[in-house]
Amino acid sequence: MADYLIAPSILSADFARLGEEVDNVLAAGADIVHFDVMDNHYVPNLTIGPLVCEALRKHGVSAPIDVHLMVEPVDALVPMFAEAGASYITFHPEASRHIDRTLQLIRSCGCKAGLVFNPATPLDCLKYVMDKLDMVLLMSVNPGFGGQSFIPATLGKLREARALIDASGLPIRLEIDGGVKVDNIGAIAAAGADTFVAGSAIFSTPDYAATIARMRAELAE
Ligand code: DX5
Ligand code: ZN
Repeated sequence: MADYLIAPSILSADFARLGEEVDNVLAAGADIVHFDVMDNHYVPNLTIGPLVCEALRKHGVSAPIDVHLMVEPVDALVPMFAEAGASYITFHPEASRHIDRTLQLIRSCGCKAGLVFNPATPLDCLKYVMDKLDMVLLMSVNPGFGGQSFIPATLGKLREARALIDASGLPIRLEIDGGVKVDNIGAIAAAGADTFVAGSAIFSTPDYAATIARMRAELAE
């Protein structure tokens, strides 16, 4: 079986009890913590920054933290999130003037680097920076909010990204973000994703372990 990772998006967690929520979802079988950073500029919403990432590390979270930057500009936040304990840092190519430089900056700070593509953003720049990537993240909703519906055209785009990654021979993860549920995760995996962000699909259910187990059962089929 492929090496699948479940990455709950804490955007849908109860922020008043964030440490406990992250502990609970990891105890329920999640692999990595997806951390959505929104700036009310690149996206029309405002969330959390490096202080909250650092607070989760101080709280004792040892799982990888997957920081999804929906911010513009990007670079100033990279060292701050690296210091705060980020494992992955991903950003949207159109939010950085110098994509290659930002990718190098992320790795030079000791983090894994990734690019995020919105539903209608072409994958064109990928081929020029493949060797500087640890992750490709495809958005299957327009970024800014949890709880939106999966955009079906993303399945074809996943197949395209999977072919590019396989052709490179590099160990790059292919992550999908937005509208991932128990009933579509199997089709999303079949299209090539190996890392699954799920916010509302996990945090809106009473039993996180049961939901994650149902997702894994779909992935095992
Ligand atoms: C949207 C965020 C997502 C969001 C996903 O901009 O990047 O990570 O939390 O939420 P769901 O899984 O509810 O679509
Ligand atoms: Zn995200």
